[in-house]
Amino acid sequence: MSEQAIAAHYSQGELGRKILNALTTLGADPEHLDPDQIAPLDEFHIGGRRATVELLDQLDLRPGLRVLDVGSGLGGTARYLARRHGVEVTGVDLTVEYVQVATSLTRRAGLAELVRFRQGSATTLPFPDESFDRACMLHVGMNIVDKAALFAEIPRRLTASRRTRRCRIPLCLSREADWTLRTGFSAAANRSPSR
Ligand SMILES: C[S@@+](CC[C@H](N)C(=O)[O-])C[C@H]1O[C@@H](n2cnc3c(N)ncnc32)[C@H](O)[C@@H]1O
Repeated sequence: MSEQAIAAHYSQGELGRKILNALTTLGADPEHLDPDQIAPLDEFHIGGRRATVELLDQLDLRPGLRVLDVGSGLGGTARYLARRHGVEVTGVDLTVEYVQVATSLTRRAGLAELVRFRQGSATTLPFPDESFDRACMLHVGMNIVDKAALFAEIPRRLTASRRTRRCRIPLCLSREADWTLRTGFSAAANRSPSR
């Protein structure tokens, strides 16, 4: 499947409006969204918020670190990281509509100073080398055929000290996904960094 076809697959049209309508129906104020309240809608991976917490809270995060979220989707993971850990998050995603919705939800959640999104591919990341201190990727690898390019790109964007010590990229590729469906996420989280 080409990247164009992948982006077309995810594009909905009117997604932002539909999400805001749903949130309003549920009693949320669309101009002051609570990231926890929208988590059921914007954590677009197996395990939802629980998986985000179990995988990413092991990244040794602290305020001010720069985190790259590869395949950031609607931005739920990025907003969680910024709010929970005070890190600066940049999300990159192939699908233009997702980038737009992620940006809108982030502004409405009051996190625009810490979280930004841009359109781009994980196999040709639109950032200079050594731009980030950490990177994560949740439930994206199944869409990317060229795994060699993917895993060459991400480490290059991490600071050299981080790259040489360990490149921690929690994944939800098919093997982990099958496994986590059966057992929960704790051990999957322990296994991912050693890959
Ligand atoms: C199942 S969603 C997961 C989104 C997000 N990581 C999350 O957990 O909420 C998969 C995402 O990967 C993105 N994606 C697929 N191929 C990509 C690529 N080559 N580069 C960047 N993003 C990609 C899609 O646009 C989609 O937003």
